[in-house]
Amino acid sequence: SKVTVVGAGNVGATTAQRIHQLGYADVVLVDVVEDLPQGKSLDMLESGPVLGTDAMITGSNGYEATADSEVVVITAGIARRPGMSRDDLLLTNMRITSAVTEEVVRYSPDCIILAVTNPLDAMVQNVYETAGFPRNRVFGMAGVLDTARYRTFIAQELDVSVEDVQAMVLGGHGDDMVPLVRYTTVGSIPVTELLSKDRIDSIVQRTRDGGGEIVALLKQGSAFYAPSAAITQMVEAMLLDKKRILPGCAYLEGEYGINGLCVGVPVKIGAKGVEQIVEISLTDEEQAALQSSAASVQELVDVMSN
Ligand code: NAI
Repeated sequence: SKVTVVGAGNVGATTAQRIHQLGYADVVLVDVVEDLPQGKSLDMLESGPVLGTDAMITGSNGYEATADSEVVVITAGIARRPGMSRDDLLLTNMRITSAVTEEVVRYSPDCIILAVTNPLDAMVQNVYETAGFPRNRVFGMAGVLDTARYRTFIAQELDVSVEDVQAMVLGGHGDDMVPLVRYTTVGSIPVTELLSKDRIDSIVQRTRDGGGEIVALLKQGSAFYAPSAAITQMVEAMLLDKKRILPGCAYLEGEYGINGLCVGVPVKIGAKGVEQIVEISLTDEEQAALQSSAASVQELVDVMSN
């Protein structure tokens, strides 16, 4: 298999490293900065003998080398600095992701695109509309990361293995994301049996602020270790046709009462990309939270089209 990662910054380079290290996919790393993707990918390639991987990884400033990729991950763009919201990135990253998508589509007309650039949901919408692909072949990563943060905090609070915490975060990748407490379990036990409402509420809030917490600590740049792990899990689900049920930002056509907008929902991920949008029943309160999250995404989409 061949996977292209566009953007050789923190998220893109770490993602390329993780995918290369899996060993069964060749990776092409693309960036506009001269020599940067070439240098980083040569460095990663030279880790192969130690790691025991023969997978190829190359860097490029153009798209010829990306031809006929199965999966293309788009991380190109600017990231948040302290004091910035994800929405502050909108117009700059719209221009970047549009230009990138046109090149990606030209060289890999059959690929599946996983968008990562923020503000995530609006960028997925932009990539979807620019690519003109069927909706199963364009989606975005955010919920797996938000869920990983939420699971980490719950596991810490209860002093249990993170693997035993199962959860789903819906909605946009923003301050109004919707962690589904009712569907959160720890070793199959509903989390509401194990933690007080107050504790859960504070974990939900920390999850919403999870990206900002890292931005504040790093002083420069934003999170990339957990994001690249989340991206790699989604890429692997496609390459290995795993049919995993994970949160993903997909173009909805009436599901959850949302039409014509990319928002985070549970999806089944396999070799065809988004193979199914999984609809689960929501309470009135959860549905209202999802609607309000979708409304925030719609506002950004409206700004982009004006
Ligand atoms: P970074 O600044 O480290 O890297 C971005 C790279 O994109 C730079 O190397 C830059 O040269 C490159 N780039 C810019 N324009 C380009 C173009 N036209 N073509 C190719 N490459 C181009 O930023 P980082 O930390 O890697 O973040 C990348 C994006 O991912 C940001 O927008 C960030 O907000 C977003 N992000 C999204 C997450 C999510 O959950 N969806 C999680 C973490 C980051």
